[in-house]
Amino acid sequence: MILGRGRAPGKVILFGEHAVVYGRPALAVPVTQVQAEAVVEAGEPGAGLTIIAADLGETIAVRGAPADHPLATAARLTLVKFGLSDPDWRVTVRSTIPIASGMGSGAAVSAAIVRALAAARGQGSGVRGQEVAISPEEVSALVYEVERLHHGTPSGIDNTVVVYGQPVYFVRGQPPQTFRIGRPFTLAIADTGIRSPTRIAVGDVRRSWEQEPARFDGLFDQVAAIVEDARVAVSDGQPDRLGLLMDRNHALLREIGVSCPELDALVAAARAAGAAGAKLSGAGRGGNMIALVTANTEAQVVDALRAAGAVRVIVTEVADGI
Ligand code: MEV
Repeated sequence: MILGRGRAPGKVILFGEHAVVYGRPALAVPVTQVQAEAVVEAGEPGAGLTIIAADLGETIAVRGAPADHPLATAARLTLVKFGLSDPDWRVTVRSTIPIASGMGSGAAVSAAIVRALAAARGQGSGVRGQEVAISPEEVSALVYEVERLHHGTPSGIDNTVVVYGQPVYFVRGQPPQTFRIGRPFTLAIADTGIRSPTRIAVGDVRRSWEQEPARFDGLFDQVAAIVEDARVAVSDGQPDRLGLLMDRNHALLREIGVSCPELDALVAAARAAGAAGAKLSGAGRGGNMIALVTANTEAQVVDALRAAGAVRVIVTEVADGI
């Protein structure tokens, strides 16, 4: 019998990654074609909480797991929040979100676990309809704690967008704002196939910023100006203006030092095939890039991305209320 179920989507950052760690704004949207899901069922008596990471073929006994195990940490933090000790539950986690590729896989898996345990706790105490037993703010705060294990100084944008499942204008330390999508637009999201842990890229940028603070603050300010322009373009229903802004944001991310030849090749291929603009998305050094496409350019851009080495291309429409 299923005691609780939780889900969260993937995400892409449209504009502002890395600069967002330093207090500048960023725009991100959920990608609902990919999802993480956690399901809680009754487990063996006395076994305590067990997590089955089905995609990884891993079984984790939460009580014996290392202190920094991300899935176990998501579960432990939730148990503490609800004053549960170690229930005999089995949590099965599955995700179609590519790992370490900038699509928020870690945050989404954590959010799914937190929500599934919250729902199970509602069932266990006999309270019906408790899937909303925990608010988005609370889920997001718990997931943020787990994100800190992955990369010491997360801005909080990943947990925010996957938990709220809405387009988000995000400034670190401020309540997230959703923003209006005046006219839907389409992105091709292409994966280099290179797994790139966020922690490494974020740590390298921090060292560069410490060595040359004025230069890097200047780059982050230029990114912030692009984010503000992009927010207006999206809200005003002028997504065609985003192409140039994406190209400029990618150029700045190259200067910040987080692109790589494979990402640059996909960006160049998308533009050559007719995309209105393209940029890396997320931490960089691998993972994903995004390209702005239309009904007329979508097929040729997707073909060009595959020919240039993309291991996976997802086409997603960005619209209000996704
Ligand atoms: C990672 O998805 C986005 C980064 O800006 C890191 C962060 O915001 O914590 C690279």
